[in-house]
Amino acid sequence: MTTELDIVQDWRVFATDHTLVRVTLTADTAVVIWSDGRETPLHRYFLRDNCTCSQCYLPLTREQLFEITDAAADLTFAEAAIDAAGDLVVRWSDGHVSRYAPGWLRSHAPDDASRAERRAARPRPFIWGSEYADALKSFDYADIMADDSTLWAWLSALRSAGMTLVKNVPVEHEALLAPIARISHLRETNFGRVFDVKSKPRADSAAYTSVNLPAHTDLPTRELQPGLQFLHCLINDAVGGESVFVDGFAIGEAMRAHHPAEFATITTTQMAFWNRDDRTDYRWTAPLIALNSDGDLEEVRFANFLRGPIDAPAGQMDAIYAALRLFQAMCRDPKYFIERRLAPGDMWAFDNRRVLHARREFDPQTGERHLQGAYVDRDEINSRWRVLSRELGEPC
Ligand code: OGA
Ligand code: ZN
Ligand code: ZN
Repeated sequence: MTTELDIVQDWRVFATDHTLVRVTLTADTAVVIWSDGRETPLHRYFLRDNCTCSQCYLPLTREQLFEITDAAADLTFAEAAIDAAGDLVVRWSDGHVSRYAPGWLRSHAPDDASRAERRAARPRPFIWGSEYADALKSFDYADIMADDSTLWAWLSALRSAGMTLVKNVPVEHEALLAPIARISHLRETNFGRVFDVKSKPRADSAAYTSVNLPAHTDLPTRELQPGLQFLHCLINDAVGGESVFVDGFAIGEAMRAHHPAEFATITTTQMAFWNRDDRTDYRWTAPLIALNSDGDLEEVRFANFLRGPIDAPAGQMDAIYAALRLFQAMCRDPKYFIERRLAPGDMWAFDNRRVLHARREFDPQTGERHLQGAYVDRDEINSRWRVLSRELGEPC
């Protein structure tokens, strides 16, 4: 049952199959019993903190006004009941009254079973190796531009596999901006709103020469690496210059499973990345693979050509280099990468904080090569995906 409160508390609708049956009180906890028998203890501060009455909450923005430090230290329950609408209603010792919709409560229930259920339901990344070459998620430019469900499917693929191809992008300068505008705004950098990848006489990056670029993420030199990268092919007439992609999460998980010591080293050792020219000086230091607080892979950060010397105790060098050498060797292992030559009109779109990309050396004497690239932060595709999910009735 969904009540009006479910919608007020969030932009999402918390539909639930479970209703509230009963509530019992102790001094600082209300324990609710659900129709499936689950028990959820709700701490008095948790409930008071989440009151959505018009004194505690700004309905216009659906943001909290009340600060929990303003609750009395001895605040307690005067009374709690399940009302006719199925909501939990609490009357507090100071007379304030709060209501909670069952859908919202179930979605935020802090009991162990509910928390485990939410964790299990969290989408897992789809991890891939060379076999992904045949399954690569490919989307048509015109469909992305015209159709919200295709846009949603494209963003869903970027969130799960982190690697997609868009076909039939017009072969025109800055044509990549149109599908990006369907998502959100750009992440501008010192290389421009749109950067031109071609062999340049006064290059300020190895990318703008014709050399082999080993597997890397772009701008590991920044505190926040750009989340999504788009690379649109305008001309690819030179011999060489094939694109290579590696799922950094596949390598991370393989290291965790088969090389735990190297995995521990690579996830904790600070690596320095530098990007300097006569006008700029960017530096950042972080582990090559970052984990979140649950131990899940969160981010890969690596570009050998932007790496500074390792700053670590002499006694740790052997272990650090063993881990780094292994990581690089795995990036070169054909079982982990896909390789493909871009044709004009193709556009790679991939998660730059997860998927490493490489470019084979090309020979600029044999023909012209010109790609255009741009970045969008991860927040932007996540936000757009959630709003589209709301509109399309998909869970988010
Ligand atoms: C880059 C890059 C890929 C290519 O510019 O950082 O990786 O195919 N370019 O030129
Ligand atoms: Zn209130
Ligand atoms: Zn790059």
